[in-house]
Amino acid sequence: MKQEIELRINGQTYEVEAQPWRTLLEVLRDQLNLTGTKQSCGEGHCGACTVIVDGQAVNSCLMLAFEAQGKDILTIEGLSEGGQLHPIQEAFVTHGAVQCGFCSPGMIIAAKAFLDQNPDPSEAEIRKAISGHLCRCTGYVQIIEAIRAAAEKMGTR
Ligand code: FES
Ligand code: FES
Repeated sequence: MKQEIELRINGQTYEVEAQPWRTLLEVLRDQLNLTGTKQSCGEGHCGACTVIVDGQAVNSCLMLAFEAQGKDILTIEGLSEGGQLHPIQEAFVTHGAVQCGFCSPGMIIAAKAFLDQNPDPSEAEIRKAISGHLCRCTGYVQIIEAIRAAAEKMGTR
């Protein structure tokens, strides 16, 4: 049986009907067409589905949509402002941290949650922050460089 769910995503309120067992990831992608958040393992192992919920990076494949009610949800679609890429997105582009791009939304959103809490991280802290995220393309070096560069840029703005 479906139930009405109200979600606040990227500053906008959405009302959807969904079965209580639907994950936040399923509702984002299949019902709200917010397909920037990716689905891969579906089991909390890859980080592709990461969104920010009340300031914390979470795997949206492991969170039920109804659990996200009343919380502020940020997806990759909400990161740029006024047509301008967020500094983390810019840094991923300029450092070659996006190749096939499948992991990128989850990595970038995780980086945003991380840098909001730790604006001047060491390389070891960055490595730890993205340790739950799989990338089959880049070897991670460019991603770590991009997050470091974004931290520096955001610190000087
Ligand atoms: S799809 Fe959610 S962690 Fe892999
Ligand atoms: S860029 Fe392809 S999986 Fe990370």
